[in-house]
Amino acid sequence: MIANTTSIQTACRQVLAACDPEEKCRLAHVCVAAWKAGDLSFENAWRPGSEIGIPGRPENPILAPPREVQRRRVSGEKGRIALLHAIAHIEFNAINLAFDMVARFGSHTDIPVGQRSDFIEDWLNVGDDESRHFKMINDRLAELGSHYGALTAHDGLWEAAIATKDDIAARLAIAPLVLEARGLDVTPGMINRLKRAGDGPSAEILETIYQEEIQHVAAGSRWFHHVCNARNREPATYFHELVQAHYAGNLKPPFNSVAREAANLLRDFYEPLAQ
Ligand SMILES: [Fe+2]
Ligand SMILES: [Fe+2]
Repeated sequence: MIANTTSIQTACRQVLAACDPEEKCRLAHVCVAAWKAGDLSFENAWRPGSEIGIPGRPENPILAPPREVQRRRVSGEKGRIALLHAIAHIEFNAINLAFDMVARFGSHTDIPVGQRSDFIEDWLNVGDDESRHFKMINDRLAELGSHYGALTAHDGLWEAAIATKDDIAARLAIAPLVLEARGLDVTPGMINRLKRAGDGPSAEILETIYQEEIQHVAAGSRWFHHVCNARNREPATYFHELVQAHYAGNLKPPFNSVAREAANLLRDFYEPLAQ
C-alpha cells in the first residue's frame, strides 16, 4: 500500500525507495491505480528534488563497468540469459526514471498548471509499462533457470539521471529522446537474433516492449516541445545543446528512422549529433 499520503509526488518517492524489484513493481502498480482512481493529487508548488536520493535497488546484481559485463552470442542459452538479464536491468532503471520524472518534475513551472495532470499521467503510464516489461523479462529469465541479480550489470545507467536531475529539459532530452530512442534502434536486431536462435518466447516479449517503447519516446517528444515552448527555444537547436552538455559522446547510427518518426522524433534532432 502507498502509505499515508494523498500526494502523487510522495507516492512516487515510495516507489523509488523500494529496493526489492517485486516490491517496487507492486508499489508502481498500486501508485498508478490510486492516481487513476482519483485518490492522489499533485502538489502544486514545485520544489527542486534535491532530497530525492539514489533509488532503492536490490543487493544483486553487482554493478560493474560496461567493459566487465559479460557479452555472449545469443545462439547459446547462456548468451540469451545474458541478453535478457541486461534488458531486465534496463527496465528496472526505467521504472525508476519514470517515477523520478513525476516525483521530481510533476509540478515543474515549465509545465503549465492545466497540463500537469496530463504530464503526470503520461509518465505514470510509462512507469506502469516499465514495471510490466521488467516482470515479463524476469519471468522469462525464470523459465530459463535464471533471475534478475544472477549476473553482473552495467553500473552507468543511473548516471544520465543524475546528470540531468536539475533540469526537466535536459532530462527529457536524454532519458526518452536519447536513451529510449536508442532502444528503438537496437531492439529489432535483438528480436531477429533471438528468432534465429529459435527463442520465440523471448522474441515475442521484446516485440511487445518495442511497440510500447515507441509511446515512451513519443511522450518524451511531446513534453520536450512543451518545455521548449515555455522557454521560447527552437526545439532541435535546444536539443543539440542539451545533448552536448549532458551526454558523453555522439549518437550512434544506424538509426531506426521509421520508429523514431512514429514517436515524432525527427531527423533534424538526431542526425546532426551522429558520429
Ligand atoms: Fe521498457
Ligand atoms: Fe521505456
